[in-house]
Amino acid sequence: MTTDSHHATSTELSQVVNALRNATKILVLTGAGVSAESNIPTFRGEGGWWRSQNPQELATFTAFNKDPHFVWKWYDYRRGLVAAASPNPAHRALAAFENSDREVFIITQNVDDLHEKAGSSHVVHVHGSIWTVICLKDGTSYEDRRVPLPELPPRCACGGILRPGVVWFDEDIPPAACAEIEAYFRRVKIDMVLVIGTEATFDYIRDWALRAKNSGALLVEINPSETALTPYVDVRVGGKAGEILAEIEKSVH
Ligand code: OAD
Repeated sequence: MTTDSHHATSTELSQVVNALRNATKILVLTGAGVSAESNIPTFRGEGGWWRSQNPQELATFTAFNKDPHFVWKWYDYRRGLVAAASPNPAHRALAAFENSDREVFIITQNVDDLHEKAGSSHVVHVHGSIWTVICLKDGTSYEDRRVPLPELPPRCACGGILRPGVVWFDEDIPPAACAEIEAYFRRVKIDMVLVIGTEATFDYIRDWALRAKNSGALLVEINPSETALTPYVDVRVGGKAGEILAEIEKSVH
């Protein structure tokens, strides 16, 4: 995707600020870019994982089945990065937008927990969590925050091999997450959708954003580069999520 030649203008920022002041229901779709300023690499951007690694060898169940140790080495390393990371101004602003009149519902593709650490109260992880492990033998799923893990692949008390509780390219997104999102769409008349730091490669991400837009929400994108959703947005704010959202937060209060 092309990098924007222009940076956020005050017109675009004030459009977002005004909309936010009047909005009571905000849907936020985030991707790796929202955690980039917390020093967690993205996938497809500059320095992203998929620039040097083949996703088919690291992020598929087929790859895991073939070589769990190799795949776990990558996840164990990323768990270390996430453990060392703190929420950045983007995560903090999104948490600060919540108040008694304004509901902020976040759908994130990120497996880190930086939205929760910043204090956001409604976060759905459509690609799972890097802290969850699932036993391939007895199917139990639980949180394991040890960094680094004592053995790779880690094992369940039953002796089975544990896998990371994330969604891989050859897998579907968790039904519980989908059900929660469907219930949200049924319950809520969304005023505004903020799409932040994602290439919107996956059709379900684009579908959720466009579904909200088609029922009247203002569609806003915050990203230094253009994405698959750019042609459909009402307002595009070109720039880094932390910088832009900190500006917006200052003006909204
Ligand atoms: P990508 O790596 O595809 O895209 C990251 C996006 O963040 C790009 O559009 C960048 O321009 C943008 N970006 C970079 N720095 C930013 C900043 N400081 N502020 C705002 N935006 C910034 O990441 P995702 O779209 O999240 O799934 O990727 C989706 C999924 O593909 C991931 O969840 C992962 C990946 O493969 C799996 O592993 C299954």
